[in-house]
Amino acid sequence: MRLDGKRAVVTGGASGIGRATALRLVAEGAEVWVGDLDATGGETLVAQGSGRIRFLRTDVTDAGQIEALMAAPDQLDIVFNNAGAGGARERIDEIAPDDWDRTQALLLRSVALGIRYAAPLMAKAGGGAIVNTSSVSALGTGYAPIAYSTAKAGVLHLTKLAAAELARDNIRVNAVVPGFITTNIFTRHLDVAEEKRQAANQAIAAIAAGAQPVARAGRPEDIAAAVAYLASDDAAFVTGTHILVDGGMTVGTRASWDPQSPSLFTALEAFQ
Ligand SMILES: NC(=O)c1ccc[n+]([C@@H]2O[C@H](COP(=O)([O-])OP(=O)(O)OC[C@H]3O[C@@H](n4cnc5c(N)ncnc54)[C@H](O)[C@@H]3O)[C@@H](O)[C@H]2O)c1
Repeated sequence: MRLDGKRAVVTGGASGIGRATALRLVAEGAEVWVGDLDATGGETLVAQGSGRIRFLRTDVTDAGQIEALMAAPDQLDIVFNNAGAGGARERIDEIAPDDWDRTQALLLRSVALGIRYAAPLMAKAGGGAIVNTSSVSALGTGYAPIAYSTAKAGVLHLTKLAAAELARDNIRVNAVVPGFITTNIFTRHLDVAEEKRQAANQAIAAIAAGAQPVARAGRPEDIAAAVAYLASDDAAFVTGTHILVDGGMTVGTRASWDPQSPSLFTALEAFQ
């Protein structure tokens, strides 16, 4: 039980990566306070948490609500700043200023403020571990819209700088960088009947297994395992960095691992 006696806060824990992580932290001995907009999903999780998960309806774009969530446990050892959504989808030459701001507030400011309000409490308890959710879209193009990807790149830099500032208080700050993980994030914004949303989720699940070198879909539990490691004393000498959990999605060109993908070399074979 690596996390015996630890108290953790998880944002965005009512679904997907946050939900799997809350359950994993509990399985490793922690007690978890989940903050999320989705009260129904939150209460469902509480029912599955063996009495070790509590839920606080929290909007991470509201500084006061983040502060209250961080203060909920009587001692704060672990924080997973994870809540998020796809954000504005427009190109840079079309995006509205307010949509840009809303996306940064949800995906970057929320993480900064999560650290802001967690750090003094952790320092008081003698230290702690913070993990932030970034994305492969922080590393390159073509994974997600520009406002989202820019915010996720900001999360990586924020992680590094916060690690430097907080090391004196024995607080480690790291990030996870998920690849393509099958969750509700891809269809949440669709304003369609539930049946259609399920069909869209199935279409996404069908492409997920072939989206990267590891030939299966990425699962929320894959990310939860990395977060549990970073939150634990096994990572006691790890700070200011990130773990990429993407099934190899970012190794290089698709042609390097997918024999069906056209490449210079297969094109030349026709002339030999
Ligand atoms: N699924 C992927 O492929 C993927 C890849 C890279 C990064 N991520 C990131 O992982 C994190 C979790 O996403 P997921 O895939 O589990 O999606 P998800 O939609 O399953 O879960 C996201 C959760 O965040 C909550 N949330 C959204 N806005 C909120 C707000 N303002 N305040 C509080 N809670 C809010 C939602 O209610 C939901 O429960 C996000 O930061 C996302 O950007 C996901």
